[in-house]
Amino acid sequence: MSNSTTSATSAPSSSEFRCIACKSETQNPGAAFRCDGCGDLLEVVYPSWSTAAGLRAGKLDPAALKALWRQRRKSFKPLDRSGVWRFRELLPAVDSSHIITLREGNAPLYPMPSCSREVGIPNLFALHQGMNPTGSFKDTGMTVAASFARQASFSWVACASTGNTSASVAAYAAHGGLHSLVLIPEGQVAWGKLSQALDYGAFTCQLRTDFDGCLRILHEVVQRTQIYLLNSVNPYRVEGQKIAAVELLEQMDWVPPDHVIVPGGNLGNCSAIGKAFLEMHQLGFIERLPKISIIQAKGANPLVRTVRESGGRHLVAVHAETAATAIRIGSPASWRKAIRVLEATQGTVEEVTEAEIAMAKAEIGIDGIGCEPASAVTLAGLKKLRTRGFVNSAETVVLILTGHLLKDPDFTIKFHSGSLFSTQADQAVLLGQRRAPIAVDANTDAVLRAIDSLGAERPGV
Ligand code: F0G
Repeated sequence: MSNSTTSATSAPSSSEFRCIACKSETQNPGAAFRCDGCGDLLEVVYPSWSTAAGLRAGKLDPAALKALWRQRRKSFKPLDRSGVWRFRELLPAVDSSHIITLREGNAPLYPMPSCSREVGIPNLFALHQGMNPTGSFKDTGMTVAASFARQASFSWVACASTGNTSASVAAYAAHGGLHSLVLIPEGQVAWGKLSQALDYGAFTCQLRTDFDGCLRILHEVVQRTQIYLLNSVNPYRVEGQKIAAVELLEQMDWVPPDHVIVPGGNLGNCSAIGKAFLEMHQLGFIERLPKISIIQAKGANPLVRTVRESGGRHLVAVHAETAATAIRIGSPASWRKAIRVLEATQGTVEEVTEAEIAMAKAEIGIDGIGCEPASAVTLAGLKKLRTRGFVNSAETVVLILTGHLLKDPDFTIKFHSGSLFSTQADQAVLLGQRRAPIAVDANTDAVLRAIDSLGAERPGV
């Protein structure tokens, strides 16, 4: 048992896996977490939640649970300190001696005064999942799925990744005494993320393909050897990630926002957040659903095209290209789950250009909140949803910021120094947000002259 495990008991409901397409149920998900019958993805369901007797037996009383979860915030037990396991009644049962936790979750909900003014929405907030232990939302799912890997006696875990999943897999594996294998697309992973995987001891293979190619190969690897798959097709990942929405609701005193805006890559996170809101609604924790909208980069927009070109019926895969490397994904595994969330919550999709992403990232920065480019698609998308009239100024909006600024400092430095874009048009649009460092002689007068050059913005004016 690692230092971070605990013998505290939890009271989870019994759960099973159900295919999202043919609805067949199983206790044994297999190595690839796909339905034996039709091959589609599985999800975790809790049969007792659909009957009143089941809810009573499971003591899933909203008022009592809200109080219990709040009470646990005063505890120093590792499971109570985790922003995921604090809500363990909503998770599948795992023996607590196997739980690997780094005190994940606990994502702060920040007001965004400057961005609020910019988009004309006074009630605009950011749930900053970049404040997780490895700097991205992946940790909230990893604590659950890695714990199940350990409970099932696997000694190796693996993922294909655009970077953040690999950092998280590597950290949780290392902390839980497991080995990790990560497959990443060569030359397409931000340094911050790659350096994490290396430091946490992952066996890191850079493949000459893209993320979609890495994921395909990993599926074959886990069929042929005893390695546990930790991508978000693993339904335990989704269960952990859904808790972000529960934390969000708790911080909003259980009054849901009107809109939640999520970046879309492999589409696990929007599916998880959507699942949580639907479950919270079904269980009586909230009285209405927010609209969940999913934003993609224009160069990596398979969901947007799937919605617009096939009405959500068939996946329109694309060759993905974007500087927001975290979401450089052309054939998302969880597209069907995402469509279901859009339909159930009456959300929408939008796509944003590279310049719009860069601009939005710098604007979020001005609020003192650093995020990575993939997270900034949310603000860029919100501006478009506002123009479309899908969001209005009186509504409450929460942006899900999925990763920390320091994950990809290269992008930020290139943006501010003016080398991120080559076209004149892009450069001109972005000029107002660029804040490059200036070279100043090493003496006090020179520094004071530099301050004077700020004009009206200088101190004391
Ligand atoms: N934002 C960040 C910072 C990400 O790292 C990812 C995905 C997403 C958004 C999109 O989330 O895939 O659940 O739709 N990163 C994965 C990875 C693919 O390998 O780190 P999604």
